[in-house]
Amino acid sequence: MKSTVSILCTGLNKTELESARACVSHLTIHERPCDADQLMENVVDPAPAFIFCGTETGDLPPNEVAQLLRSVYQDAQIHFLSSQRETFKRDLLVKNGFNDAYLVPIENGILKDAVTLRLAEMNAGPAKSYRSVSLIDIAPDTTLTFDVFVYLPMNGKHVRFSGANEAISKERSDRLRKHQMQSVHVKTDQMPAFYKFTADQLKKLDGTPMSDTERKERKQKAVRELLSQMFSTDSATDFSKGQELVKDCNEIIKSYVVGEDGKNSWYEKIMSHSGEAGGSYSHSTNVATFAALFSLGLGIGKPEELAMAGLLHDIGLADLPPDIQQKKEDELTPEERMVYQQHPEYSVNMIKSRRLVVSEKVVRAISEHHERFSGDGYPKQLPGDRICLEAQVLGMADVFADLMQLESGRARVTPMQAVKQMIDECAGNPSHAQFDLSLLRRLANLFPSSLQQAEELTA
Ligand SMILES: [Fe+2]
Repeated sequence: MKSTVSILCTGLNKTELESARACVSHLTIHERPCDADQLMENVVDPAPAFIFCGTETGDLPPNEVAQLLRSVYQDAQIHFLSSQRETFKRDLLVKNGFNDAYLVPIENGILKDAVTLRLAEMNAGPAKSYRSVSLIDIAPDTTLTFDVFVYLPMNGKHVRFSGANEAISKERSDRLRKHQMQSVHVKTDQMPAFYKFTADQLKKLDGTPMSDTERKERKQKAVRELLSQMFSTDSATDFSKGQELVKDCNEIIKSYVVGEDGKNSWYEKIMSHSGEAGGSYSHSTNVATFAALFSLGLGIGKPEELAMAGLLHDIGLADLPPDIQQKKEDELTPEERMVYQQHPEYSVNMIKSRRLVVSEKVVRAISEHHERFSGDGYPKQLPGDRICLEAQVLGMADVFADLMQLESGRARVTPMQAVKQMIDECAGNPSHAQFDLSLLRRLANLFPSSLQQAEELTA
């Protein structure tokens, strides 16, 4: 059944309209030609909650469309959707009156998250999804204004740990920590209450600038800004812009490698990233984190180089035709698969054309991140002894992140299960082994036995 909340679409080309439909399939969509008279006279009633404006705005420049729409629909969120990455400038669009601007289809996930969150704020559901929040943001022995859930991977369920108007005792909170659970979950529609709670708590503490959950969200936002700047061809001719982007990458990477608190061990960080909320760039940020941590734990390569490679490894996906971008890898036809498998080279080309000065190791790790130990990877089918170690670590982090990714609000497996699965697959089929088994075993040994016990306890 369609929701009573509606969306107004105008000026969207085919790709942009498909992205809009994919993100808001449960809402009623009204389409209007991007024409001043049509938009002023043919008003949608009741007013739409969202308006999506695309790149085909005809004679009207986007800023005028934004002003015109705002004059008719004061309370709507007006978003710009663009499939034209060369001309996409988020900063300018937001300055000119759009609430936000999205590069589609690569940012479909982020757009969908923004719509879900807004619907939750409007109490206009469906908002049964969960968001991962850091346990350290939930002060023990303090009455909460929202329900807290823990996710049990073995039976795939979110279980209510504490209800609204209850406090989590210090003892119960410590028990979660002992089980290496550093993230808990809050229903999306209760996130406004969570933000208010953390803001109130922080006011009581001097010198704490923001909650851990918000810090992570800001990091995601910074990565989004960074990568979408890279997609714009404006930076192609400007060497200083390339250097600036590398500087920004390094700032973000510092927080992956060192961490804001600097005291968590590498596997604790892996735990805190498991079950992270989704979003189109969350894969890049997760791979960057895992690759840096694996590099630290295994003593292979430089963690900051692995993090950089993790951030940038898939940027070439943006150069694939939109219909290929919108498909999952296993849905591709053989011809489309051949095109898709060029993406490591597209990523390297994009780095070079943006004049990003990164080390040769970073470039090699990116170009070989889909090569496999057995020699049946792509694009060059390199055998294991010709794949550089950094690329092997990056490839492992990529597969690990995929296994751990949320599916309908829940992580598919725990970190230890993910590594075990990778080991079993390689050991069970050595002639098609994705990775060097000895490297995977070294990785598994880095997980402390207490962590394995904790997983058994939560099972
Ligand atoms: Fe890739």
